[in-house]
Amino acid sequence: MPEIKRIGVITSGGDCGGLNAVIKGVAREAYFLGIESVVIPHGYAGLYNLVQLEQVVYLNAERVSKIEASLAGSEAGHSRVKISKIDDPNKYERIKDGLRKFGIDALVISGGDDTGSVVVDLSSKGIPCVHVPKTMDLDLQSYSVGGDSAINRIAVFARELKTTGMSHNRILVIEVFGRYVGHTAFRGGVGAEADAILIPEIPVDFDVLYEHMKTTYFARIDRSDVKSGTYIIVVAEGIKNINGEMLYDESIPPDAFGHKKLAGSGKYVRQQLEKRLKVDPAVKEFMQRTGMFAPGVYEAPEVREVTPGHLVRAGHSSARDVNFGYKAGAAAVFLLLEGKAGNTVVNVEGNRIYYQATAEVIKRREVNIREIPIFESLGTCFGRKPEKFVYEIVEQKGRIERHL
Ligand code: F6P
Repeated sequence: MPEIKRIGVITSGGDCGGLNAVIKGVAREAYFLGIESVVIPHGYAGLYNLVQLEQVVYLNAERVSKIEASLAGSEAGHSRVKISKIDDPNKYERIKDGLRKFGIDALVISGGDDTGSVVVDLSSKGIPCVHVPKTMDLDLQSYSVGGDSAINRIAVFARELKTTGMSHNRILVIEVFGRYVGHTAFRGGVGAEADAILIPEIPVDFDVLYEHMKTTYFARIDRSDVKSGTYIIVVAEGIKNINGEMLYDESIPPDAFGHKKLAGSGKYVRQQLEKRLKVDPAVKEFMQRTGMFAPGVYEAPEVREVTPGHLVRAGHSSARDVNFGYKAGAAAVFLLLEGKAGNTVVNVEGNRIYYQATAEVIKRREVNIREIPIFESLGTCFGRKPEKFVYEIVEQKGRIERHL
């Protein structure tokens, strides 16, 4: 087993809930085992520049107690730098020099798929590192800290926006992060009882969405004694139309990992609805019937898009993410001690630490759309004609796997 006296902690990619719990989990477990831990700031940019640092921050008991595990974001700081892309032929030697300078024997690195690919890269270059899964997108094979916090925040924002939606009888389109998958839009949307949830896994038919909106929203306002109602759409940033084209604003430049920025789906959805509201004769009749029609000024319901953006990753972590972050951080120390570099902590259950090769864990996991029809049968629109819920009844044999 490798002798490890000092561990460096790196967080990388987008910040989110649970990361400070990971840092504390690593630091406290290491401390408990008589190992030192230090922060390597600014993600992989900081790792590359470690050799230039005058000193590193030691995560001793006093310093660790200043970190609030329930706060989102990361005390270690982030960047979206991929080591292999750095334009320096001596980058790996430079990193090794930095690690040597501070006597750092191994790394715990928390991040998503891009970060994980660097874990694989560094491990193959002889730099021992273990990965703790983190991403609000929930697009890894395992659970990742940040997902639950983001889901809860999306649910709260979408639910709370109903009060303003209802005051103005507006249709609200709430665009949320999530990259190429719809896990957080889906679960957050369900959590808020959104009327429609649009995710990348299901191409959007805007005629279907419009019809669902019209039926639900008109009926809601017709039924209300004060003629009030709203219609809430949670839309993932990575949605596609029925031709499979992604609906984002192409004018925004890519990030440092080289990824397209996917902003703009909310605006696209709004425009699609507005276009249909404008030419639909039933709209004028509805506006007149409900006492809202004002010629030339207010002839159709308003559609507004709201983009919570980084707010869904900010603020506070959910209790689940603090739990997972703490134990996954601690478990990463044990994996390093057991010589399991190049692997990801996927879960800790009872006294079992489950791990998997990082190269496997970072393969994209999409929403299992076989579950969608159950929500369609309950009335939620996913931008397509509802499909039949084809179920299987399965008796659970043996132990039931649970994350918490
Ligand atoms: O990967 C996490 C994530 O929040 C994505 O859902 C989103 O597309 C991206 O980060 C936004 O990144 P940035 O904070 O660099 O704008």
